[in-house]
Amino acid sequence: MKALVLAGGKGTRLRPLTYTLPKQLVPVANRPIIHYVMDQIARCGVKDVGVIIAPETGEQIKESLRQNPWGLSFTFILQDEPKGLAHAVIVARDFLGDDPFLMYLGDNLVGETLEGFLEEFRATGPDASILLKEVEDPRMFGVAVVDGQGRVIRLVEKPKDPPSNLALVGVYLFSPAIHEAISEIKPSWRGELEITDAIQRLLEKGREVRCSILGGWWLDTGKKDDLLEANRVVLDELVRRRVEGSVDSESKVLGRVVLEEGARVERSTVRGPVVIGRDAVIRDAFVGPYTSIGRGCHLQRVAIEHSVVLDGARLLGIERIEDSVIGKNALVESRSLNSKALRLMIGDDAEVLI
Ligand code: G1P
Repeated sequence: MKALVLAGGKGTRLRPLTYTLPKQLVPVANRPIIHYVMDQIARCGVKDVGVIIAPETGEQIKESLRQNPWGLSFTFILQDEPKGLAHAVIVARDFLGDDPFLMYLGDNLVGETLEGFLEEFRATGPDASILLKEVEDPRMFGVAVVDGQGRVIRLVEKPKDPPSNLALVGVYLFSPAIHEAISEIKPSWRGELEITDAIQRLLEKGREVRCSILGGWWLDTGKKDDLLEANRVVLDELVRRRVEGSVDSESKVLGRVVLEEGARVERSTVRGPVVIGRDAVIRDAFVGPYTSIGRGCHLQRVAIEHSVVLDGARLLGIERIEDSVIGKNALVESRSLNSKALRLMIGDDAEVLI
């Protein structure tokens, strides 16, 4: 069994963050999304991982995986243009050979281990198995019709009139039969070779496609609110208290807080779940629940909660920030005394002086 992680494509929905950061590297609880993907793959015991990269962002993806704490063996595969998920499989054909493989979209977070999904695939031996999740509005996803015994009957990509509320999560298992099915499909209306169409093709050829329905959470970190929600869920479920930075005697660090080495908390209150990156300074401030503060950030005379602040950002003199995403090295500074709560989505290097 090999794994294929898709880390190409353009992150249009998370602009402006994704002007400078591939969507797979957007941090959730201060870790890039793709690191959670590798956690999952490593847990399943898969070692050989192909990573599909785009020309614009490939180097950043490679750099972020360079440390490789999982001990995985990475093969980076360049996809020249974003021509679809099935096109990525064609590009990876040499790497995949005739092995079965786990395909994982590198910007998806799944709150459940995949070992059961893999075991079922190995035990039942279908040509594909897909992970599904009930969603309220399936129109922006691939949608499946299933028979109640774990078999898939029909699939359709982004239907206007969805035949069910079961969305494809972006985690798939394939036998090598998928390659022939891919060679038989045509690009969709959006000009992409859709993996959903290739799986539908398997069904038309009489092959067996099975499914597992995800009980835990799934976050497709498409937009600002999704990112804040992903951050909230991960902080809630995965963060354990670890205070390695310094906290002065006038400060309180309460609950599940990660304070990385070199970070300083002075005359401030931090109420978890919160993560604060290396060398950040929190001074005369309140950092409330569900907040991630990146490396080297500087917060002074500010109250913030339920927000994501990327590396090197400075927040100065703001009475209250909530539900906000602040890009790398951004400056938000208030010079008036009566500022009200702000809701922000600010790109890298932006400066806001109020
Ligand atoms: C892709 C797949 C879709 C799936 C979704 C999950 O959509 O085509 O079937 O439901 O990922 O995130 P895209 O992100 O390309 O719009």
